[in-house]
Amino acid sequence: MNKKINFILNSELIEIEINPSTVLLDFIRSLKFTGTKEGCKEGDCGACTVLAGELIEDEVIYRSVNSCLIPVMNISGKHVVTIEGLNQENKELNPIQQAFVDCGASQCGFCTPGFIVSLTGHFLNKGKSNHNSVIDSMDGNICRCTGHNSIIRAAEIVSEKKKKKNSSM
Ligand code: FES
Ligand code: FES
Repeated sequence: MNKKINFILNSELIEIEINPSTVLLDFIRSLKFTGTKEGCKEGDCGACTVLAGELIEDEVIYRSVNSCLIPVMNISGKHVVTIEGLNQENKELNPIQQAFVDCGASQCGFCTPGFIVSLTGHFLNKGKSNHNSVIDSMDGNICRCTGHNSIIRAAEIVSEKKKKKNSSM
């Protein structure tokens, strides 16, 4: 039986009646947000990663999730951010995307949105960021063609820039 569900997808309020067990990935892609990719559909590749933001004690806390494993029901009342939602204001590349370009960290591009969303989730988090935590934030993401070295380098560049910015504040 269908249920009413409300949530925010990027900057848009979604109010729908839907089978609550519909997979979030399928729903997102049906709205033409096809930057979120369908890879394994078993939680193993990270191609479908999105951010899910939840209001906790007056603050929205974002974490990266595999949208292929989540029923739409579970994101009711949350803010879901796809790769399309990361830089829609000015259309310019954000620092993570720019680092991927500079390091040649994207080849066919299939895995790239997932990596960038996972890293965004990490850098949005107020917890301490260091080399290991940056690498750990991508441990659910797999790249089948570029290899992980250039991706790690791109992530390190963003991490170093963020550290410099924080220390100058
Ligand atoms: Fe592979 Fe979701 S499609 S983890
Ligand atoms: Fe092709 Fe990663 S760039 S799978």
